[in-house]
Amino acid sequence: MKKIIITIDGYSSCGKSTLAKALAAELNYVFVDSGAMYRAITLYFLRNHIDWNNKSQVVKALENITLEFGYCDDNATSEIYLNDENVEWLIRDMVVAENVSEVAAVKEVREFAVRQQRKMGDTKGIVMDGRDIGTTVFPDAELKIFLTADPAVRVERRFREMLTKNPHITIDEVKTNLEVRDYIDSHREFSPLKKADDAIVLDNSNLSMKDQLKIALKLVKERLETSKV
Ligand code: DC
Repeated sequence: MKKIIITIDGYSSCGKSTLAKALAAELNYVFVDSGAMYRAITLYFLRNHIDWNNKSQVVKALENITLEFGYCDDNATSEIYLNDENVEWLIRDMVVAENVSEVAAVKEVREFAVRQQRKMGDTKGIVMDGRDIGTTVFPDAELKIFLTADPAVRVERRFREMLTKNPHITIDEVKTNLEVRDYIDSHREFSPLKKADDAIVLDNSNLSMKDQLKIALKLVKERLETSKV
């Protein structure tokens, strides 16, 4: 059975992971949330008071970081482990969200993460979501999706998600965080967020999860029929 690499990139809170997870489950592929890797690194830096503007501190800290994904039966998805600790829940915290874009803009951090992401794609059969997956990590991926959604829809989605963790959070805090992250992610020097030339734009503002999955599966089918892998 032919297997391909599928990349899903886009701005924060477009539902990339939701679509990637559903696609991976449907196709029996591996799902990788690359943002979780940057979030776990940020959590490590915050916990250990690492100054990410100090190159030698960053390089030393990265030597002590092991990131792994393990399948969680209860949630039917893969979850991230930082040095053998499951941090899937902790990395969704606002304090991580407020610092992750700065950490993800550091060259050494990106090189560290991209090296591991490429290894995960060695055997294909993978759906990876992030910001630079179709441009930098897998520029030869068979299917690249660039997911978009109306900014107001994205804020509402992230607000609802964050409320389950923090009942005191306000919609303005969420809105500001998304705007700041999107700005830093798309203006950084190394591997900024941008649509790959050969990516297909999918706007899911008015699509149900079922409908967007249907569209994505149709694209996969087409690619499987036409790709030489
Ligand atoms: O997808 P997310 O919101 O969990 O990602 C968290 C941050 O990580 C995001 O603000 C930018 C960064 N990121 C990145 O720079 N490159 C990726 N491939 C994935 C995420």
